[in-house]
Amino acid sequence: MLKLYSSLSQIITVNTQGENLKRGSKLKEIGILENHSIVTENDIIKDFIPHGSEKKEIFDHVIDLPGKVILPGLIDCHTHTIFAGSRANEFRMKIAGASYEEIAQMGGGINRTVQSLRELSLQELVELTKPKIEYAISQGITTLEIKSGYGLNLEDEIKILEVIEILNKQYEIDIVSTFLGAHTYPPEFKTDHESYIKLITERLLPYIAQRKLARFCDAFCEKTAFSVDETEVIFKKASELGFDLKLHTDQFNNIGGIDLGLKYNVQSLDHLEVINKKEIKKVSKAETACVLLPGVSFFLHYGYAPAREMINGGAILAISTDYNPGSSHIANLNFIMSLACIELRMTFEEVISAVTINAAKALGENLTRGSLEIGKKADFAVFDTEEYSDIIYNVAKNLNICTVKNGKVIYKSSKVEI
Ligand code: NIG
Ligand code: FE
Repeated sequence: MLKLYSSLSQIITVNTQGENLKRGSKLKEIGILENHSIVTENDIIKDFIPHGSEKKEIFDHVIDLPGKVILPGLIDCHTHTIFAGSRANEFRMKIAGASYEEIAQMGGGINRTVQSLRELSLQELVELTKPKIEYAISQGITTLEIKSGYGLNLEDEIKILEVIEILNKQYEIDIVSTFLGAHTYPPEFKTDHESYIKLITERLLPYIAQRKLARFCDAFCEKTAFSVDETEVIFKKASELGFDLKLHTDQFNNIGGIDLGLKYNVQSLDHLEVINKKEIKKVSKAETACVLLPGVSFFLHYGYAPAREMINGGAILAISTDYNPGSSHIANLNFIMSLACIELRMTFEEVISAVTINAAKALGENLTRGSLEIGKKADFAVFDTEEYSDIIYNVAKNLNICTVKNGKVIYKSSKVEI
């Protein structure tokens, strides 16, 4: 099936010249092609043709998008989209002055959501999550990472990963599955950390590996969650079983998680609000992606990660929503993109690279997606504007009018006639 997407104003290719990631000043180079059309063959990008030289009769399908902008399909590479219940009361408490860690110590926080999620059946959880997936698709997101971590026992962690498996089959977008059993200690194991770690390493990880329910194993390395030593026990076992690794670290306290992550060659280090200068140097040289989550600093009202220093150092910087009920109840990636410009002092172009090619790198999927280059996946988003700056200038406004995944139109607004 040969398709032509014609009459576009700009195609933002995020071209990497075959490197498939962007560091330093390269983040600014987003490969703007003006007045071109895209040719796709089945699920792959086949060509870019200047306006006027297309032979429309050779295509099975011509989709005319006059004056629109195309970006690579957006990639939200760090989310906790599967959760239940509300923590609005905690948000109120935070606004009144309580800290995230204080609320967690009072029995709120992650374990509050665990309680709500355990009450739902698999099917109820599937139904609760569907509109969230559809919202992601409507924004032009074509690859979405989702973590477990609100079950925290065998049955309920598996339930979350099965929900991901079911939704992955139901929707055309790719949902990348991450096991985050090491999110916090559940109430049953509050004083017996060793037994909970055993449950993860001896039962959960082997079972998940055998059923291929998750690609990544993640952990929350933090004073109030898992120590460096505890995280290492889990990482050792997970890597033996063939999982790729990710790490939540340096969100509130600098306890050595970055060194551990680099030692285990994690695919991504996430959060990094309190990363220090020495560590910036280390991560900047590494192959690991650094995923910044400015929605968390905004929602919890504390300091932002030093994005500018990290980009200048040469880190592979990505950004994501961290959509979750407690620290970033924000599923709007467009808002996060504008926020990254305002608060992380990133340029429009750097942000575009951070939610496309570098977000793909954070998921180990950068060879197949994240940029519009010949031979890569035909995953893209069409925006209702002639100039890409409008996407970021229109804070929290969804300008996406058409989402294309694997060469198929999977979402279109009434503005698109096909
Ligand atoms: O990425 N840091 C740990 N986990 C989430 C918060 C989860 C929650 O509060 O429910 C995060 O910020
Ligand atoms: Fe997170």
